[in-house]
Amino acid sequence: MFDLVIAGGTLPDGTVADIGIRGDRIAEVGRIEAAAQASAGRVIDASGDLVSPPFVDPHFHMDATLSYGLPRVNASGTLLEGISLWGELREIASTGDMVTRALTYCDWAVSMGLLAIRTHVDTTPDHLRGVEAMLEVKRKVAPYLDLQLVAFPQDGLYRTKTGRENVLRALDMGVDVVGGIPHFERTMDDGAASVKDLARIAAERGLMLDLHCDETDDPMSRHVETLAAEVTRHGLGGRAAGSHLTSMHSMDNYYVSKLLPLIAESGMTAIPNPLINITLQGRHDTFPKRRGLTRVKEMQALGITVGWGQDCVLDPWYSLGTADMLDVAFMGLHVAQMTHPEEMARCFRMVTEDNAKIMNLEGYGLKPGCMASLVVLDAGTPTEALRLRPDRLAVVSKGKVVAERARNDARLSLAGRPASVRRRH
Ligand code: FE2
Repeated sequence: MFDLVIAGGTLPDGTVADIGIRGDRIAEVGRIEAAAQASAGRVIDASGDLVSPPFVDPHFHMDATLSYGLPRVNASGTLLEGISLWGELREIASTGDMVTRALTYCDWAVSMGLLAIRTHVDTTPDHLRGVEAMLEVKRKVAPYLDLQLVAFPQDGLYRTKTGRENVLRALDMGVDVVGGIPHFERTMDDGAASVKDLARIAAERGLMLDLHCDETDDPMSRHVETLAAEVTRHGLGGRAAGSHLTSMHSMDNYYVSKLLPLIAESGMTAIPNPLINITLQGRHDTFPKRRGLTRVKEMQALGITVGWGQDCVLDPWYSLGTADMLDVAFMGLHVAQMTHPEEMARCFRMVTEDNAKIMNLEGYGLKPGCMASLVVLDAGTPTEALRLRPDRLAVVSKGKVVAERARNDARLSLAGRPASVRRRH
């Protein structure tokens, strides 16, 4: 007997199947007879709708989210003014403020079928209030949302007296992943040293590594080279990621022809953040203005796992955002020019399967034995979901229905036309 059946949905690969759920696990995928459906605790009719594993965001800043305008808006729109504003805000925001804002964001995420998030937590201030707040949020949302926390020295590992010590303190407090920001250290040499130091810390502690790496338009910012070499040296492979990698957009092509195989050899993954990269990069350019997005298709062609991250929603760096990973993929698809049908399908997989792989999530997917987490979308295919960014009709997390929404078709008042219109094809 099933606790829940999602009946007749279309899976991302085009298969039409019923999904039977027992407890927090998927028990069956295929055809479930009417009698078995009749005895189930609940049946959700998903016929004609897309049923996907949940959306996953491998790059976010939950300690800063929903703070747009505090203490004031970012007038220049640059990364550096954003860092400076955040430096003021983190000193005046209480633990309670951060918890409240983060929990609101988590509610938004759940409503959009986003059920796993890796969030960088600033470890720069000695009070570590952000770490305390995010550990509390992680505990609170654990029954329905998986949070991974990254110890992130926003102002640099070596630029402040206690930068390194505070990363270690945060890891001791239970933060999951080692973070860093080599391009923000005082010198290129310090940046390279920080990558080596952080990779060693991750290897010694058996932790994952995820560095903000080369988030700059400077084509000579080459810390990703050091990161790939250190990941290879320590055998960190798929447990290490380079976030942003925007300098790769501007690098010399000959150098990139050496770099890409090094990244592939290391097994590390890559996390561009298209909404933020297209907004923050190229700010010092006149025309033509660079897009700043890293080389996504070129990395994928070498077998490197590349995901799409969201990075920011309503904070000192970005004034918009909705917790919808389809918005993120939609922007990524455009900026990376991934318009072939296979590339569009890949963009959907990037915000689901590929991001789950980057975060090393256990039990992710729509197979028997996997965690019973999924989302029902008002779309027929992954590509249609990207085109429409449609309503999430139902969201199931760990076997429980955690969000539902009625189908919402527009009513028309046009003489000689039907009374309602659906955007679906
Ligand atoms: Fe970031």
